[in-house]
Amino acid sequence: MKEIIPPDGGQHHLKNYESVFGTFRFEDVHADFSWHTTGKVNMAYELIDRHTTGPRKNKTALLYADDHRRESYTFEDLRKLSNRFGHLLQRLGVSKGDRVFFFMPRSPEVYIGMLGAFKIGAVVGPLFEAFMEGAVTDRLADAEAAVLVTTAALKERVPRGKLPNLRHLIIVDEQPEYAAGEVNFKQAMAESEEELELAWGSLEDPMILHYTSGSTGKPKGVLHVQGAMIQHYITGKWVLDLQEDDIYWCTADPGWVTGTSYGIFAPWLNGATNLVRGGRFSADGWYRTLQDYGVTVWYSAPTAFRMLMSAGDELTAKYSFGRLRHVLSVGEPLNPEVIRWGLKVYGKRIHDTWWMTETGAHMIVNLPCMDIRPGSMGKPFPGIEAAIVDNQGNVLPPNSLGNLAVKTGWPSMMRQIWNNPAKYDEYFSVPGWYISGDSAYMDEDGYFWFQGRVDDVINTSGERVGPFEVESKLVEHPAVAEAGVIGKPDPLRGEIIKAFIALREGYAPSDELLDHIRLFVKTGLSAHAAPREFEVLEKLPKTRSGKIMRRVLKAKELGLPTGDLSTIED
Ligand code: WT7
Repeated sequence: MKEIIPPDGGQHHLKNYESVFGTFRFEDVHADFSWHTTGKVNMAYELIDRHTTGPRKNKTALLYADDHRRESYTFEDLRKLSNRFGHLLQRLGVSKGDRVFFFMPRSPEVYIGMLGAFKIGAVVGPLFEAFMEGAVTDRLADAEAAVLVTTAALKERVPRGKLPNLRHLIIVDEQPEYAAGEVNFKQAMAESEEELELAWGSLEDPMILHYTSGSTGKPKGVLHVQGAMIQHYITGKWVLDLQEDDIYWCTADPGWVTGTSYGIFAPWLNGATNLVRGGRFSADGWYRTLQDYGVTVWYSAPTAFRMLMSAGDELTAKYSFGRLRHVLSVGEPLNPEVIRWGLKVYGKRIHDTWWMTETGAHMIVNLPCMDIRPGSMGKPFPGIEAAIVDNQGNVLPPNSLGNLAVKTGWPSMMRQIWNNPAKYDEYFSVPGWYISGDSAYMDEDGYFWFQGRVDDVINTSGERVGPFEVESKLVEHPAVAEAGVIGKPDPLRGEIIKAFIALREGYAPSDELLDHIRLFVKTGLSAHAAPREFEVLEKLPKTRSGKIMRRVLKAKELGLPTGDLSTIED
């Protein structure tokens, strides 16, 4: 008998899954948007401006807190500030479709800036602040970004000489001197106008470009369009269950898709008060945030829950979570013991959700009105058709392991891999289906159970790392001849990065050398991409065509059979 945790009986937007599954159409929500009557679409208008013509005008839209700043902005404040930023971009000559990137820590300016960019029809590109020069350069160059919004410290990682298309850097904090092409944010905002002519467009206009990792090649620029808002809005309503008096906290950084789709779009499309906590993770700090702000809806990740769990129940007992109403998780498998622990310490079920950068919004979910089966990701969101298919696209019966696939065509589906149509087509190689790269099975009641990745993509602490990008950086180090990188199961981080390397002639393995190599990846790519473990081999297993066989390395690591070795070199 499978473990089942029934709903808690609270009031939710959606009362019953069965009543809408199979009948709901995304078209049903069009009438909730301004463009339904005007025919003119602008993301920021629907996020912010729309609310300022009614009772939400002076409602708190953004609560911001870190160790140095505590601020609060109404919808009207954000409307005016984003107008100013939009005007600032216009004066820099930015026009519709130009890429405006953001490379900075969480702060109110990121949110104001992204909204302002949407207002003039620019395509927003978020970059995680931990990226180092190599990672930043690859992404800005691929997107041919015209403007970068950043800080005085982070701009040191931006080699402008290698980025001919990058016309302006907007420096958000102050610096003593401004070089040609650098803009003083504060001053330029003050010189901007508070009213702005918005760029109106269509549902298919490009809106945001998120870079994500695959198993081969450079990171891919996943492009989403304005029409994705339909799905952000309705999943915000039904899955996050956002209600008028909620204080909503999504812990993700806007450098990742969760931090935009569910840290910006879903909450504000629903007119919710959105809390942003800057700075690093600390169990104490997070609990204080939950308590002091009276957070009611909380969206986080398994790694964070596991870290809170390992901080001990004595800590949890020091705080009260009386206002907490709804808790959700995304990014990696949510362990059943974490769900049981959440029930014990918060008195709430943790609702798992499954989706990807490429899907743009929730695909498989646990709605508050559904039974939870710990260990399962839930069921498809109404309007989404998910299935387990074989490599030919045949739908497999319940309880068979196969490719987790989604019938193509949903509002937030990516529309392009930037500059790389061939990569885009790979996702749709089985006609009619989007192939996720995850393997899973569906039980006889329609619940989906995640089993792993089909490819070699690593998921460490909920962040996707492409093994190829790490391997490429490793072989740039003078001591490294060859490298193969795998994800190794880890109780706290889900997976850690383990690198197998062969050294060049004249180098001998030592802790010092390996530390040096680790630092080389950390400073060249980012901290989360740096291998935590190394193993030095004479030679790496390769196919006859020279491809490193990560599968063999992984099997060896896990003590499993290596499988078919017919293509191995010797
Ligand atoms: C990959 C997507 C957009 C969400 C944040 C990550 C894994 C995501 C779950 C889950 C098990 C999950 C999958 C997926 N993943 N959610 N609930 N259970 N695995 O977005 O960086 O695009 O990564 O994260 O492997 O393919 P992402």
